[in-house]
Amino acid sequence: MPDIIITEKQIHLRNDRISYVIGILEGGIAAHLYFGKRVEAFSAASVLRRWGLPEDGSLSLQNCALNHVPQEYPAYGLGEMREGALIVRAADGTASCDLRFVSAEIADGKYGLEGLPASFGGNAKTLRLKLRDELLGLDVTLLYAIFDNCDIIARSALFENRGGQPLTLERAASLCLDLPDCDYDLITLSGDWARERDVIRRKLTPGEMSVSSIRGASSLLASPFAALARPGTTEASGEVLAAALVYSGSFYAGVEVGSRHAARLMLGLNDRHFTWLLQPGEAFTAPEAVLTWSEDGFDGMSAQFHCLCAEHIVRGKFAHAPRPILLNNWEATYFGFDEEKLLTIARKAAEVGVELFVLDDGWFGHRDSDNSSLGDWVVDRRKLPNGLRSLAEKVHGLGLKFGLWFEPEMISPDSDLYRTHPEYAMQIRGRTPIEGRNQLILDLSRADVQDFVYSAVADVLRENPIDYVKWDMNRNFSNVGSLQLPPERMRELPHRYMLGLYGVLERLQADFPDVLFESCSSGGGRFDLGMLYYMPQTWCSDNTDALCRCRIQWGTSLVFPPFSMGSHVSAVPNHQTGRITPIRARANVAMSGCFGFELDLNKLPESEIEEVKAVIARVKTLRQTLLYGRFHRLLSPFEGHDTAWITVSEDRREAVLMFTRDLAQPDTDAPMLRLRGLDPALIYTVEETGETCGGDELMRSGLCVALPGGDAASVSLTLRAL
Ligand code: DGJ
Repeated sequence: MPDIIITEKQIHLRNDRISYVIGILEGGIAAHLYFGKRVEAFSAASVLRRWGLPEDGSLSLQNCALNHVPQEYPAYGLGEMREGALIVRAADGTASCDLRFVSAEIADGKYGLEGLPASFGGNAKTLRLKLRDELLGLDVTLLYAIFDNCDIIARSALFENRGGQPLTLERAASLCLDLPDCDYDLITLSGDWARERDVIRRKLTPGEMSVSSIRGASSLLASPFAALARPGTTEASGEVLAAALVYSGSFYAGVEVGSRHAARLMLGLNDRHFTWLLQPGEAFTAPEAVLTWSEDGFDGMSAQFHCLCAEHIVRGKFAHAPRPILLNNWEATYFGFDEEKLLTIARKAAEVGVELFVLDDGWFGHRDSDNSSLGDWVVDRRKLPNGLRSLAEKVHGLGLKFGLWFEPEMISPDSDLYRTHPEYAMQIRGRTPIEGRNQLILDLSRADVQDFVYSAVADVLRENPIDYVKWDMNRNFSNVGSLQLPPERMRELPHRYMLGLYGVLERLQADFPDVLFESCSSGGGRFDLGMLYYMPQTWCSDNTDALCRCRIQWGTSLVFPPFSMGSHVSAVPNHQTGRITPIRARANVAMSGCFGFELDLNKLPESEIEEVKAVIARVKTLRQTLLYGRFHRLLSPFEGHDTAWITVSEDRREAVLMFTRDLAQPDTDAPMLRLRGLDPALIYTVEETGETCGGDELMRSGLCVALPGGDAASVSLTLRAL
């Protein structure tokens, strides 16, 4: 059960497995004392001694003493020499802040954040820890929540200007965690287009290490996530603490090792894309960050994030539903299609058992390439003379659902929208706008633009029978300027953009609860917990090469569960790598997420069509386990030639094992794969081979898995308890 205990000098948040302890030091400084495995009571003396502080919590703030205090929300300007969580500029131009304890209140349930995505629901408790700077008249309420079913502490901060002068927040981090030592490896997810979320591990050393984005999206290059693992931590064992932002815009995630070899983890908005003016009476809320701890290695960490996504992030009717097997026409046709070509592809898709046909980019305006028409969300009658409704109905007539691509946040200079409303684009007066993929970004900080974007999508959804939307976003921010914002608020634009976007998504979610939304950003460039709050699945990467996907999906799974990952079988030679891999490998990897196809099935030989039919039938029977089972990584593609993972149903009676080797090795023995997550007391049959083994044997001794020959050799095995 989640519980929050307040005593005179301590606040202790805990559930059955984890504890988070805050100390209130003399003078009202909120100190961080502990986060980790549940403890019954916390004396604090040892930790304070470690920091060189009096064991009774007394404190002299002279001589830059704050520099050695483990703080919950350190502010810049009064002796704190490390990077702090908060920078506040006063009306006289100085920056300093002295936050002292005012009150601590406990409430049942999970706090919500107005206008921002945030974890919700479940059996949870909330702590509101109010701190105040009397001179500035600034109240900072630190929000904490603890759940009973996930080992997650959710955090945010609320800033209220109760004084008489304008204040400017120059930094307002979501989370700061002071740790008494630095004996950790930092794990981040970094990549680029078509190679998202490589797992990067480096030892902490003095100074700062970080990942960040000023791209206006969480980005292809870095994820708003950081984990600290004790050296030697593996998938199966070791202590890890990790944090992620529930946010989709520019961010910072980093660690600083300062004096006394202490480490400070911090996540939040990126200062280069942020300030916020707080006039007297105004308030600001920082995006949510979530923090987890596990002593069961990276597997344990991922289990907590996956639980959070399933139970507290993804909303609506698709949250626990079987996701439709889809076929998307993008790589089959790119911009070159007409109704008959699409229907030919859809007919074949229906014949093999696909459930949803998705029409990608190129259906609107006069978009024959990526240099026009974004903003003109009107069907292109040259390609679809009978209109969208007619196409959607014909697709429905084939027994398929119908989905449609949009890139609603963008505007092409060659569009009626731009010709009519050039002021809708983000821009800096007097500067030629920098285009990215021949397009500009709509200024979503403006209410008129928000209304336009909502209506553009909503009108199409109201006028046509559409079951699914792919929401794309294909460029980075530049020319960060708004024609509506006053100079003193211009640096608020990147965050105001996100608030505007979230508002539009909230309205669309509320008005179209039966439409399944999948987010996308040049592949997986906005794969984050913020987007998942509005859209239950995300296109993982434009790279659908089976071997590259082993790495991409492995890295993605550190934080995100299978049901969130769009993963498709595409044609060979692969359009991104030129590699030819067997259909079996492509299918085995793709079925470990929201399964689908990205090709014209008419072009496959009959033998492969038979394989596709069999795979689709199998995925339909195993879908609940594949999407919502517990996912365990077994062999890492970052460490050798082999990738293996297993997904185990909640009752542990069914499991699907995926094993792929990238390059064939001469004279190599079939490996023993030590499985995880099974019930040691149950006996399992491997359906494809007929062999029978105990769960304990499969996990302790392992399963010897023979691979077919050749490169990209792959097997997928079904284990079922007798
Ligand atoms: C980028 C996406 O990642 C692709 O899947 C595709 O939708 C294109 N955009 C279309 O322009």
